[in-house]
Amino acid sequence: MSPVSRRATASPVSASDTVTPTTPSCTKPWATPVPESASPVDAVALVRSGLVALGALEAARPRPGESALVTAAAGGVGQLAVQLARLRGASRVVGAVSAPGKAAFVRGLGADDVITYDADAWGEPVDYVLDAVGGELLTPAIAALAPGGRLVAYSSGGGTVQAYDLLVSAKSVIGFQMARIARGEPQLYERWRRELWRLFTDGALRPAVHGEFDLADAAKAHEVIESRSNLGKVVLRT
Ligand SMILES: NC(=O)c1ccc[n+]([C@@H]2O[C@H](COP(=O)([O-])OP(=O)(O)OC[C@H]3O[C@@H](n4cnc5c(N)ncnc54)[C@H](OP(=O)(O)O)[C@@H]3O)[C@@H](O)[C@H]2O)c1
Repeated sequence: MSPVSRRATASPVSASDTVTPTTPSCTKPWATPVPESASPVDAVALVRSGLVALGALEAARPRPGESALVTAAAGGVGQLAVQLARLRGASRVVGAVSAPGKAAFVRGLGADDVITYDADAWGEPVDYVLDAVGGELLTPAIAALAPGGRLVAYSSGGGTVQAYDLLVSAKSVIGFQMARIARGEPQLYERWRRELWRLFTDGALRPAVHGEFDLADAAKAHEVIESRSNLGKVVLRT
């Protein structure tokens, strides 16, 4: 869940810009100017989740024609990861979700196939996995990789990696943390942010919003998130 507001801020964003924070602490350098064609809600749904999705995708070092699997594919980050993998030339994108009821939404994002985590096998092996879940799902997610495949772990869900399973098929697990990029590589952060807005203004990338909630209804927003039923981003209005 992310907050949205219209307000002015100091340089590098001009005082007349509509801005939205991109980190929970909303330090000034990370306030994002919002183009005329986008609403503040678009910005909230696009920028922070998009930076995570794009950063995780870059960490996977995708090559055109490779296949991808995205876990939590209907979530705020996952929905953008599915679209970005497709835009980066993936030959096949598989969305993984907990409930079959999310399949139509994930296919609508551009996924070729949708699997549920409890499937015995996760289909044809893929070249890379963008994993938002971790924990016990890490084992089947690594098993879903083709030899030489890469899994990008960006969830806060933890999990255990069996090094021998990596060795036998030359697989890799790569950690990704957006805050590290924001702090340590501001030029890269800015480049990714510009790319997200370019894709948005071109109409190629569309952040889905599950719902907008007033601050007074924050508990309802939390109920949606806790039930794992959101299709896209949950936005809280302040
Ligand atoms: N690395 C970074 O820099 C960074 C930055 C921001 C966020 N993140 C991480 O990115 C992940 C996705 O964030 P988001 O904003 O897309 O979240 P979100 O919109 O709330 O979606 C989360 C989805 O995760 C799935 N999920 C799987 N196991 C879950 C569990 N045990 N509890 C709750 N949800 C579970 C659910 O979909 P299904 O039921 O379909 O699986 C849920 O809808 C989170 O793990 C978050 O910590 C990482």
